[in-house]
Amino acid sequence: MKVKVSRKAHFNAAHRLFKPEWTDEKNTAVFGKCSNPNFHGHNYELIVSVIGEIDQQTGFVMDMKILKELIYEHVERAFDHKNLNVEVQEFKNLNPTAENISVVIYNKLRSKIALHLDLEITLFETSRNFVTYTGK
Ligand code: NI
Repeated sequence: MKVKVSRKAHFNAAHRLFKPEWTDEKNTAVFGKCSNPNFHGHNYELIVSVIGEIDQQTGFVMDMKILKELIYEHVERAFDHKNLNVEVQEFKNLNPTAENISVVIYNKLRSKIALHLDLEITLFETSRNFVTYTGK
């Protein structure tokens, strides 16, 4: 029997989607307003889910206090009120799409969570656009 537990978090960050080897015209054609050279912000909503057996001692899948602290330390402190392209090392050479941000968050948290637990990242870039990554 497996149970999924989830914690919500939030960060504001600026980004620009572009490929430096493309012309401005091609970047605008592919990335639209998200390619604005002067950057723009999103209110990202994050759901981090952990899936696993219930620990018979605690009755928890995972201690949510620990999950809260991991998200704060590795995601909120790293990304909140940052320009992702300019200030966050992982995006120096990686387009900060919602897809890529989800993979970066997954990779940051995966090593901090016990391996018998599965991890799932859902990231809302807007209230209607969101992506999910499960490490596959
Ligand atoms: Ni954008």
